[in-house]
Amino acid sequence: MTHSGATALEQLKRIVGADHVLTAAPDVEPFVVDARGRYRGAARAVVQPGSTAEVSDVVRACSEASLPLVPQGGNTGMCGGATPDARGDAIVLSLARMRAIRGVDRANATITVEAGATLAAVQDAARAADLLFPLSLASEGSCTIGGNLSTNAGGTAVLRYGNARDLVLGVEVVLADGRVWDGLRALRKDNTGYDLKQLFIGSEGTLGIVTAAVLELFAAPNARVTALAALADVAHAVELLHAMKQALGDRLAGFELISARALHLSRKHHPGSPDPLPGHPWYTLLQVDDTAVDPPLADAVETALAHAAERDIIADATIAQSREQAARLWALRENISEAQRREGQNIKHDIALPISAIAQFVAQTEAAVIDAFPGARVIVFGHLGDGNLHYNVAAADGADARQFVANTPAVNRIVHDRVVAAGGSISAEHGIGQLKRDELAHYKSAVELDLMRRIKSALDPRGLLNPGKVL
Ligand code: FAD
Ligand code: MLT
Ligand code: ZN
Repeated sequence: MTHSGATALEQLKRIVGADHVLTAAPDVEPFVVDARGRYRGAARAVVQPGSTAEVSDVVRACSEASLPLVPQGGNTGMCGGATPDARGDAIVLSLARMRAIRGVDRANATITVEAGATLAAVQDAARAADLLFPLSLASEGSCTIGGNLSTNAGGTAVLRYGNARDLVLGVEVVLADGRVWDGLRALRKDNTGYDLKQLFIGSEGTLGIVTAAVLELFAAPNARVTALAALADVAHAVELLHAMKQALGDRLAGFELISARALHLSRKHHPGSPDPLPGHPWYTLLQVDDTAVDPPLADAVETALAHAAERDIIADATIAQSREQAARLWALRENISEAQRREGQNIKHDIALPISAIAQFVAQTEAAVIDAFPGARVIVFGHLGDGNLHYNVAAADGADARQFVANTPAVNRIVHDRVVAAGGSISAEHGIGQLKRDELAHYKSAVELDLMRRIKSALDPRGLLNPGKVL
């Protein structure tokens, strides 16, 4: 290590305390490998500040020593955004110690939290105040609000409540030069110039370090119905989505698509999972919430599904009769991601399309993928209600998964060309990180890339914040 590097580490220890600067290889290891095990980097140290003032001092010290900083929350991201590169000069800035719930304002229906609070802890704090924080991801026990905002996370309740960006009223951010921007406003209307908070949301740690946020809360539902429907194809799933929106209005909170192959994997890797409607090619999982007192919700959902069956939109359906049954249906869906990880590497795509284009996209793209890679397994699931599919391509049964993943550029081209031709996006909710950086450069217009680069150099002129990510 250089003399100035060693001096900087001493200074970081003085700022956060020696116990909160990790340098021993086994301590650093979990912070330099991503959740999917696809990226492995190296770091000079992991630094864990305990307050916004400490984050500010750490950023200032790293800036003076020209040390790159990689912000990290729960390290559950899907695109390697929180993993440093292999050079080993970066500092991983972990927000994990900053997990205070600073306060709940019930009358204003807001909660102010620190960036390292887990999503589950924020949901719990909202629930304790008889309110709802609706963001919902299978990783909610480990992912953090800082990570959720920095990736503009989506999840399973976007249909009704929007993405992370729609749930934020204010942020506190440490800038690349160490200054603190206190933008912790709790206002639903504020037209005083540019909406700066939205720049930081979804910027994956490349423009600033989010240290706290004011989040919007909602009335907690008094009734919740969860149902699984079986369908012949994706076109019918899209028809069902339309029918359910018409019948249930904004009470339809979640509408997830699950292919038989995704369901098979989920059950294979989570023994004891139920198989409620066996033998169908496609499924949709619906969640319907009502905030009214004692609403006749179950009847409304049953009637809507019965009409869908009469019109041959669905082949079969089951409605959960208890919270436990609902949780077991949801587990089938939420376990898919982990099941895919256990199954071995695959080529992931997180795409958004106009909902009207999805059925044709799925039919045509699978044919093109199989044509180019005979036997490849296309595993489709996702948030159909938002037009967001996880369109993952895995090696043929029994083939070497790692070898197959070497085809990523060719498979990406087949899938992403079709996505873009249909007016879609190559990243719906997971972000860009390092996984899709080159794809972003390939598909974004020169104008958009130029604007993004200008914003980056205005806010981080020395390129020390999460280098090599997004751009
Ligand atoms: P990290 O992985 O630590 O970081 C993600 C990015 O944000 C990195 O670029 C990092 O540098 C940056 N960052 C983190 N904290 C800060 C901060 N305080 N300030 C500035 N930058 C920061 N995502 C979805 O959108 N929808 C889903 O349904 C979903 N389901 C998932 C299910 C599973 C099982 C898993 C493992 C992941 C899932 N994800 C999903 C992905 C992931 O959980 C989200 O992207 C989440 O928002 C990441 O939060 P994190 O705290 O783990 O962030
Ligand atoms: C999901 O919806 O399950 C997540 O976004 C995770 C994934 O795509 O693996
Ligand atoms: Zn998802």
